Amino acid sequence: MDNRPVGIFDSGLGGLTAVREFKKLLPHENIIYFGDTGRMPYGVRPAGEIRIIAAQNIDFVASQGAKAMIAACGTISSTADDLLLQSPTPVCGVLKPGVAELCAGGQDVVGVIATATSIRSGAYERQIAALCPGKSVVAVSCPKFVTLIESGRYDKNDGDVQAAMTEYLTPMKTAGVGALLLGCTHYGLIGEAISDFFDGRVQLIGAADAAARETARYLAENGLEGSSEGEDKFYTSGSVEEFERLGRLFLGRDITGMVEYLPPFPL
Ligand code: DGL
Repeated sequence: MDNRPVGIFDSGLGGLTAVREFKKLLPHENIIYFGDTGRMPYGVRPAGEIRIIAAQNIDFVASQGAKAMIAACGTISSTADDLLLQSPTPVCGVLKPGVAELCAGGQDVVGVIATATSIRSGAYERQIAALCPGKSVVAVSCPKFVTLIESGRYDKNDGDVQAAMTEYLTPMKTAGVGALLLGCTHYGLIGEAISDFFDGRVQLIGAADAAARETARYLAENGLEGSSEGEDKFYTSGSVEEFERLGRLFLGRDITGMVEYLPPFPL
């Protein structure tokens, strides 16, 4: 039994998809969440900056006494995996658990959608080739999704969401993708819209959900599960009010008064 919190971080709201899944599995865990909204989006930044950001986020969350962490960000997981592995507090990225679930399906043609920096790194394709060689992979970056979602526009009927999906996902449809990994954690927030785009005929795998499941397994296997009735705590480097408003919608519970402002770390 270990009642220290689990730390989860991302550039903004995307990592809340990991929080949602993790709390479903282990409701008695306390979460320390850091959404770096003031420096969002990460996915257009060069890899060198992402590595600095990754180290800063790990240090901050570790300083809050976390027993384990989820780097709930595909961009960090694909460009700074070595930093995650070196951390004294165990950190689970989203790339490896996501690809493991993608490979577990029997589909010959698989897809990955993620940020521009993630796709440019080639890390998703390398991990797929290592784990399930022989699959045909279509990898596409979807830069408009994150800014739409962070501005609260994730409704599946939103015209701009529809237009962005048509632009990015049509090549996936044409290629006959049978399973699609949401390699950016933000994309889980428009998962229903993406599923509808494929008329429900594509298996969707959320990298954030996969990482939450992996972390829950890790805690159970190592006797680190908590039994706490305490409160979750959220930090944002952007607007507290906006985080509370959108966080309530995404998590389906009121987080008013649980969010604190953290000035953006300097780059
Ligand atoms: N949600 C993050 C990811 O999984 C970052 C998105 C962004 O800030 O561009 O890549």
